[in-house]
Amino acid sequence: MSHHDNIIFQARPGGRLQGRVRVPGDKSISHRAIMLGALAEGTTTVTGFLEGEDSLATLQAFRDMGVDIDGPDAGRVVIHGVGMRGLRAPSAPLDLGNSGTAMRLMCGLLAGQGFDTTLVGDASLSSRPMKRVTDPLAQMGAVIDTTAGGTAPLRITGGKPLHGIDYRLPVASAQIKSCILLAGLYAEGRTCVTEPAPTRDHTERMLAGFGYRVERDGAIVCVEGGGSLRACDIDVPADISSAAFFMVGASIAEGSDITLEHVGINPTRTGIIEILRQMGADIEILDQTEVGGEPVADIRVRSSRLHGIEIPEALVPLAIDEFPVLFVAAACAEGTTVLRGAEELRVKESDRIQVMADGLAALGVDATATPDGMVIRGGRAYAGGRIDSHGDHRIAMAFAIAALRAGGDITIDDCANVNTSFPNFLELAGMAGLAVSQVAS
Ligand code: S3P
Repeated sequence: MSHHDNIIFQARPGGRLQGRVRVPGDKSISHRAIMLGALAEGTTTVTGFLEGEDSLATLQAFRDMGVDIDGPDAGRVVIHGVGMRGLRAPSAPLDLGNSGTAMRLMCGLLAGQGFDTTLVGDASLSSRPMKRVTDPLAQMGAVIDTTAGGTAPLRITGGKPLHGIDYRLPVASAQIKSCILLAGLYAEGRTCVTEPAPTRDHTERMLAGFGYRVERDGAIVCVEGGGSLRACDIDVPADISSAAFFMVGASIAEGSDITLEHVGINPTRTGIIEILRQMGADIEILDQTEVGGEPVADIRVRSSRLHGIEIPEALVPLAIDEFPVLFVAAACAEGTTVLRGAEELRVKESDRIQVMADGLAALGVDATATPDGMVIRGGRAYAGGRIDSHGDHRIAMAFAIAALRAGGDITIDDCANVNTSFPNFLELAGMAGLAVSQVAS
């Protein structure tokens, strides 16, 4: 699909969310399943794979490096692993579209290969900071060129011997951590990463699932280079970051009662639940089990009267992708909500602080952007209006949810990238009770 088309969503005001919904597979886990499955010895079967553009870009990139992959077929992907040294040089640059996760994780993994690669992406990805990964990789011995501004295209020179490092992350980022650990698999000796605050640990869990030894001691995680991966089967849970739209929607729309099925509730991802509960949300965790080393549950959410809070900074990395829709919750909550310590939001698929502040202002919500967060005085009625999502999937979906409490239609421009993470959003949201549709551009 062309990202130059202006896909427009229109959401009608009012409604409530009901029923049982299974949102698509976790994006973070889907990327990692392709990467580790490709490098494993043996055949890895993935179910629940996210058939969104981001994880499909990763899948295509590994095909371009000679990996045989069947599917996806209704979320089922079969990866015929080539082993740690089995990738082949691609014949052209690898296009990772909109996906920061694909680019940063693959940069680490490819730094250790015997061949050169070039990683490219769309306009948004080509403006995101990459020095945060290329600097530590250079310390390991990698040779990677960026633009003068430290952005993609990334030109990775293969055949450079890597050695382990002890790296303290300057920002709490699972992408940087994962990038270094993946490079560490190819490095001589031990590679250790220290996190300033806990971030999602899917890489560590999945490496262990593939039989690779990962040592964790408090904030430090280490791998020893030179090992191998054993194929295994992966059941990808539903993405809590996609479920988040329905969790907020059900909370703010009176009369709602929705159950989100088989959602991944890894404790490094559940900041959304904790923050909403602190705001007074009614959220029940049901039928908790574990699939492939990841905790999973059904999540039941009923509407409630939300109130503003000061969001604890420790929860920021645990809810980092959920702030666009949390700001909508804050707009509906009685009183003031304050977010601090979230400057990372400015370097996501868009500047999520500025773009959300502009969008909320267009609806008449009293929201003030700050350098590292937002102050929202909520609880007053807000209008409909026209929003520019700046091509950011989560901004587009957040404003569709905002319609549940708006005084008029909300029209959202530049929604094509909803397909990166949640390709059937319109259909599932419509079934649950949100009157949202695509209108002619
Ligand atoms: C991700 C880590 C986070 C998150 C992104 C997915 C991952 O990025 O925002 O959507 O899969 O590791 P940062 O590491 O930049 O915080």
